[in-house]
Amino acid sequence: MDLQLKGRTALVTGASQGLGRAIALGMAAEGLKVAAVARRMDLLEGLRAEISKAGGADPVLIQADLYPEGAAESIAERALKALGRVDVLVNAAGGSRPLPVNAPKDQWMEGLTLNFFRLRELTEALVGSMQANGFGRVINLTGTREPRNLNSAHAAKAAVHVWSKGLSKVVAKDGVTVNCIQPGKLRSEQIDKRWPTEELRREWAKKEVPMERMGEPHEMADLAVFLASPRASYITGNIIAFDGGARFFAF
Ligand SMILES: NC(=O)c1ccc[n+]([C@@H]2O[C@H](COP(=O)([O-])OP(=O)(O)OC[C@H]3O[C@@H](n4cnc5c(N)ncnc54)[C@H](OP(=O)(O)O)[C@@H]3O)[C@@H](O)[C@H]2O)c1
Repeated sequence: MDLQLKGRTALVTGASQGLGRAIALGMAAEGLKVAAVARRMDLLEGLRAEISKAGGADPVLIQADLYPEGAAESIAERALKALGRVDVLVNAAGGSRPLPVNAPKDQWMEGLTLNFFRLRELTEALVGSMQANGFGRVINLTGTREPRNLNSAHAAKAAVHVWSKGLSKVVAKDGVTVNCIQPGKLRSEQIDKRWPTEELRREWAKKEVPMERMGEPHEMADLAVFLASPRASYITGNIIAFDGGARFFAF
């Protein structure tokens, strides 16, 4: 299938490793010019080398911390300047933030800022130009809808789900789609820290995942690349689980 993506552009946050990195690689392999955002420049340089080795267009590297006020607007500006236009935005930066009951306000704000506020601000800084161009794709990586503990990321990801759904209705007529991918447990830095050996990962997955294994980032990247393509033009406002069957509610 020709995904009709050659010559398009993508901005990917969280691109230094894990899921964002795999998506950046997947996009570059399909002929998109990628702007890759993260704090760790050495890892972004490694991504650049891998994209170049595979014959992809030289990516734009944007070293940025998403926490400071104005970070999202500054990233959007740098990406638009370097790429000319942003056709695809992948919001992959984020992470789990377990909290105790009555955690201080600043801990809640920290998790919500990274996992919801900056994602919304970055999207809103770019979505107007997507509408004007008559084409755009916003893909948000979210997380579980079956919380088993208290975690500010759960609340933030739920906010992303609801906000994305609303936004998708407003921009649909302009050729812009907005979807969320809900990863189960896929190999990345945060996952490998918690389950550092293959044996531990298998042991966990045997209990929790019908496929009896954790997923690999490149497997999910294929879904993101498809959602980014003109082929996926009638899919919007969705939350798509990518979890090896590890979702146990029926609807
Ligand atoms: N892997 C999973 O199984 C899983 C499950 C559920 C949800 N998710 C979601 O999927 C997304 C990607 O997950 P992952 O496992 O690849 O995450 P990860 O291993 O924690 O990596 C997070 C990425 O975000 C970047 N990042 C973190 N804080 C940042 C900041 N303040 N400013 C700029 N960049 C920042 C990191 O780059 P730098 O450190 O270089 O800045 C890194 O590239 C996240 O939103 C996560 O919540 C993942």
